[in-house]
Amino acid sequence: MGQLSRIGVAIDSGLLGKFDRLIESRGYTNRSEAFRDLIRDELVETFWQNPDSSVVGTVTLVYDHHVRLLSEKLTDIQHDFHHHILSTLHVHLDHDHCLEVLVVRGKAAAVKKIADTLISTKGVAHGRLTITTTGAEL
Ligand code: NI
Repeated sequence: MGQLSRIGVAIDSGLLGKFDRLIESRGYTNRSEAFRDLIRDELVETFWQNPDSSVVGTVTLVYDHHVRLLSEKLTDIQHDFHHHILSTLHVHLDHDHCLEVLVVRGKAAAVKKIADTLISTKGVAHGRLTITTTGAEL
């Protein structure tokens, strides 16, 4: 952490009350850390807007492995992007459904393409790209 700067923020009392209730429900014990996290979240989002940014994230997929050739297709796609996929976790959720979590790393454009390709594959019930940071830019 760098040098600390103190700032004063004027904010509508009603809005501040809502913010306090929100952050309390999320477990924050003070506003400063909640503000810092909001700022970091926006910075990470903005960082990802640049296709050339070096990023890390996770892709979460839920699918029915009985869908014909779906598992093979998802594996083929992952092999196509093997340089960007650091690790995968596969959980057999129930008799039909699988959950996969992929840790991905690379340029933002490439990582988004991997996520879009996997999530848009027919038979994937739900998918999400979680964007995060290596921490270096914060
Ligand atoms: Ni499975």
